[in-house]
This record gives sequence, structure tokens and C-alpha cells, in this order.
Amino acid sequence: MRDDRTISMKLLITGGAGFIGSNFIRYILKTYPEDRVINFDKLTYAGNLENLKDIEKDERYRFIKGDVCDFAALKQAAVGVDAIVHFAAESHVDRSIHSSREFLETNILGTQNVIDVVREQGERGIRFIHIGTDEVYGDIESPKKSKYGDPVIPSSPYSASKAAADLLVMAAVRTFNLPAMITHCTNNYGPYQFPEKIVPLFISNAIENKPLPLYDGGTQIRDWLYVEDHCRAVDLVLRKGKAGEVYDIAAENDPEVTNRMLTETILNILGKDKSLIQEVSGLRPGHDQRYAVDASKIRTELGWQPQISLAEGLKQTIKWYQDNQAWWRRVKTGEYQAYYNNHYNKS
Ligand code: NAD
Ligand code: DAU
Repeated sequence: MRDDRTISMKLLITGGAGFIGSNFIRYILKTYPEDRVINFDKLTYAGNLENLKDIEKDERYRFIKGDVCDFAALKQAAVGVDAIVHFAAESHVDRSIHSSREFLETNILGTQNVIDVVREQGERGIRFIHIGTDEVYGDIESPKKSKYGDPVIPSSPYSASKAAADLLVMAAVRTFNLPAMITHCTNNYGPYQFPEKIVPLFISNAIENKPLPLYDGGTQIRDWLYVEDHCRAVDLVLRKGKAGEVYDIAAENDPEVTNRMLTETILNILGKDKSLIQEVSGLRPGHDQRYAVDASKIRTELGWQPQISLAEGLKQTIKWYQDNQAWWRRVKTGEYQAYYNNHYNKS
């Protein structure tokens, strides 16, 4: 199996039109002039080819509209690739509470299809990175940090579906010697994040002087990592990670950051008043209080560390949303507007 940075790779990225996938594709094309990328994406409400407008004409890049639940299409897209980085998923916890089926289909059955495509390659050995989440460990009491091997206790249909996908990947590693690795990252933020997630929702609402719906007192803790730091971590796992291993990835912000602190920082940077905060409850039953993972393995074994502090990353992200208002104003219409009205009017 190839793990040499100097050897060029042909990568199949699933979900490359979403937030992290599009940032990852841009990072790969910028960092490795010899690499080629195929982006395989269904273009759900969260997939947006505008996220890749600046590279769509790059001859090293190709887009295929496809569903990971369609085995034949996925297999065809994987012909000749050296690695698959599997980002495609239904990713929003609140939506999984409203309706779970698409989460089970894409996140579980779709991942099984990726496993089967990799399996069919046999000895050729396509390297496979499954992008998991820290949410599989569930609610973590302070001061504990979770890591691979700890109990998997997901709280939402989203995180349960991601946990199921992890288990299928690890079973395939054991049973079929699949050359797969899993990553579990904490919350990402940065450019091109769909404005249903707290950071882009609150930045864009604040710019529009709309209320910021802060759930359940805002005491919950998330460990925010700038998306490009996550991309660097996934790239290291892709090129240097050991088959069969699981890598937990986290900023390990110290001190830890509550949602209220995050919200007030966003308002502060934008010069907006705290009165925009609207206390709401009941919108996320089963709401996890705290996520925290121990990232010492990827730090020591692969030499990864985050390069962008939360203060700096938030400034850059807010500037991006200020400079790219046409992007999020378009995204916030249509399907999303209907979701927003339906979800937030329940508070
Ligand atoms: P996202 O919702 O922004 O993007 C998901 C992408 O997957 C979209 O482009 C969508 O069109 C595509 N997709 C959905 N269903 C598909 C299907 N059936 N076939 C093909 N494509 C499909 O998500 P994101 O925030 O970029 O997350 C990407 C991955 O990273 C997910 O697996 C998520 O679980 C994981 N993750 C996210 C975070 C975070 O903070 N956002 C943190 C850790 C892990
Ligand atoms: O931890 C990694 C996970 O991070 C990823 O696996 C998920 O794909 C990603 O969506 C994210 O999940 P969260 O549920 O933590 O992110 P979200 O932005 O939805 O919520 C972050 C916190 O903010 C959470 O405590 C709920 C709260 N929140 C969220 C929204 C959308 C609010 O207070 N108000 C809101 O309107």
C-alpha cells in the first residue's frame, strides 16, 4: 500500500460538495500538484458545487453526481483510484431527530457500499479513510476525554448511524483485512459550512440582525477545530496512517468553550449586541452536554497539531461569511428556509 508523500495519488472523495469535503478537495489540489481527485456526491440540500467553483476547471478534478447507496455507480467511480476518503453523510443532528431514514440509508448502507467497493479491489488495496465523528462516544462528563476503545454511546439518530458505520468498517478490517482507517473529529467550523450548524447560522443571522436561537441555556461544550486543521489531519492519516487504526482528532481547546461563550465571541467580533441571543429549549431532545476527545495518538504517532487558534479561526470565518454573503443568502432560501421555519417555530 502506498504511503509515500512523493507518490501521486488518485483519490475518490465521497461527499466532496459538502462543507469538509470541499475544503479537503481544495487542500489536496493546493498541496499535491500531481494528485487527481474525483468528487462523488449526490448533491443533497447540503451539497453545493458552488463550494468548488474556483477549482471546477482544474483538469486534475472531476465531478460525478452519484449516491453512495448506488453500488454500481460507486464501483464505477472507484475504478483505478488509490484511495477513497468517505465524507458523504447526512450530518445534522437536528434533522436526524425530525426524520432518521436518510441517515440510516446514507450513513450505514452507503458506508457498507464503500466497504464492498474496497473489498472487491482485493490485493490491489485501495486505501480507505472513513470519516467518523467524536459524537459516537456520546456525552462525556468533565474532565474525562474519550478515545478509541471507550464505550460507544451515541445519543441521536445521526450519531447512532455514524457509530453503526464505524462498527461495519472495523468488522471489515477484522474479517476481510480491509485497509481501512477511521477518524473521529470534534466540531469543525470555517468557510462553506452549511448555515444550519451553529457557527454559520449565528454569523449569518447576526449579520442580518436576526435572533440567534441558543439552545438549552448555552452551557454545552464543543471542541471547535478549524476545518483546514481537520483536512491536514485527514491527509496525514491518508498518507501515513496505519491500516486498521482509529485516529481521534481534536483541537483540545483549553479552557473549554461553551456555546454561550462561542455565541458572545461571534457577536463581539461582529460588533453586534447580545440582545440578539434568543434563549430556546426543546429543539434538541437528548442534547449532549459535552464532547471531548483525547487526540494524543494522532499528535504523537503522525505529528499532527492544529495550526489555527479558535480566536484566529473565528475571525477568518466571520470575514469569509461577510465577504461571501451571496453564497449563504442563496443557500438560506428554498429547502433550507422551509426547514428553518418548521424547526425553529417549535421553540
Ligand atoms: P455536509 O452535510 O456539509 O456535507 C455532506 C455531503 O455529503 C454533501 O455534499 C451531500 O450532498 C453529500 N451526500 C449526502 N448524502 C449522500 C449520498 N447518499 N451519496 C453521496 N453524497 C451524499 O457534512 P460535513 O459537515 O462536511 O461532514 C462531512 C463528514 O464529516 C460527515 O461524514 C460527518 O459525519 C463528518 N464530521 C463532521 C464534523 C463537523 O463538525 N461538520 C465533525 C466530525 C465529523
Ligand atoms: O462533534 C462533531 C459533530 O459536530 C459532527 O459529527 C456533526 O456532523 C456536526 O453537525 C456537529 O454536531 P453538533 O450537533 O455539535 O453541531 P451543531 O452546530 O448542530 O450544534 C453545536 C451546538 O450548538 C450544540 O450544542 C447545539 C447548539 N445549537 C445548535 C444550533 C443549530 C444551538 O444552540 N442553536 C442552534 O440553532
